Amino acid sequence: MTSDLTIDVIPSERPRSAEDRAALLKEPGFGQVFTDHMVTARYVEGRGWHDARLTAYQPLTLDPATSVLHYGQAIFEGLKAYHQPDGAVALFRPDQNAARFQRSARRMAMAEVPESLFLDSLTALVRQDRDWVPTKPGESLYLRPLEFAVDAFLGVRPAKEYLFLLFASPAANYFPGGVRPVSVWLSTEYTRAAPGGTGAAKCAGNYAASLVAQAQAAEQGCDQVVWLDAVEHKYVEEMGGMNLYFVFSDGRLVTPALTGTLLPGVTRDSILAIGRDMGLDTVEGRVTTDEWEAAAADGSLTEVFACGTAAVVTPVGAVKHAHGSFNIADAQPGALTMKVRESLLGIQQGTAPDSHGWMHRVA
Ligand code: COI
Repeated sequence: MTSDLTIDVIPSERPRSAEDRAALLKEPGFGQVFTDHMVTARYVEGRGWHDARLTAYQPLTLDPATSVLHYGQAIFEGLKAYHQPDGAVALFRPDQNAARFQRSARRMAMAEVPESLFLDSLTALVRQDRDWVPTKPGESLYLRPLEFAVDAFLGVRPAKEYLFLLFASPAANYFPGGVRPVSVWLSTEYTRAAPGGTGAAKCAGNYAASLVAQAQAAEQGCDQVVWLDAVEHKYVEEMGGMNLYFVFSDGRLVTPALTGTLLPGVTRDSILAIGRDMGLDTVEGRVTTDEWEAAAADGSLTEVFACGTAAVVTPVGAVKHAHGSFNIADAQPGALTMKVRESLLGIQQGTAPDSHGWMHRVA
């Protein structure tokens, strides 16, 4: 689907000063600081997408009957722009986010944002706010596209009007404390996604539904929840909002297969390619919780890590479940985990060759 919409640029009359920006960029953390601009576009059934504009970052005004507030037609994406050694700014695989955004829209019976509008919005915002792209290693400008239903109507049906929004947030580490192994709680009480459900869509409701399980993981003294399949409660699916990888001593790098209940992560997909580049035997398969514990005990499972856009690659050190707990090797970040992390960051930060053509220079 294409669009020849042009984005009207109406810059903020009160952008932050260079000093204010520098102070905010000092320790941005994750998701707390927002740049000076945003992009919006509107969709109305019968008219299509229109009124695409880049404006000052500003609050929204919503009618109390706005349907997303009631019935939750809301999807989002997350991707990053990286400062490059030559001063350029490049996006990592934005076409993958555009495609997933369309798949999420289809699943939620929402209007699809044309790929060209999605990509043009990213380019326009990064160009406008390029001074907000952090330059320290490991830092980036996190981009958050989202779309939601804006009909003021209480009937339950797919909305006829949608708002597309894009804004940006300078980002350092997702998890406080930087790269350290996380502990995980295997949840058998709650499930993230069931067959036929919305697990493969990046919709807001999936994240809302995850929070009680994440709170339970915290009560158990763990950092993150690990989701199991909804039918048998034995196959490992994801960790919180991230995909998982298992490293075996025989050279296998295994990630749970995309059964329809998992979110198809862009980082997950990239690591399959990086693993192949490293000569590993990459496998999209199924891992049960019993296999996980047995392989950790006999030493054939050497490392486990989680991956996602926000936190990139995060080692998993310890596992707790209703009947006990165990460590993965010495519970320290594994050598391969850190090598995969560095390989990916090297490509993203422009210090390693982009042999897959993943980086899109936009500013
Ligand atoms: C990611 O790993 O990027 C995520 O999806 C987490 C995000 C919702 C903050």
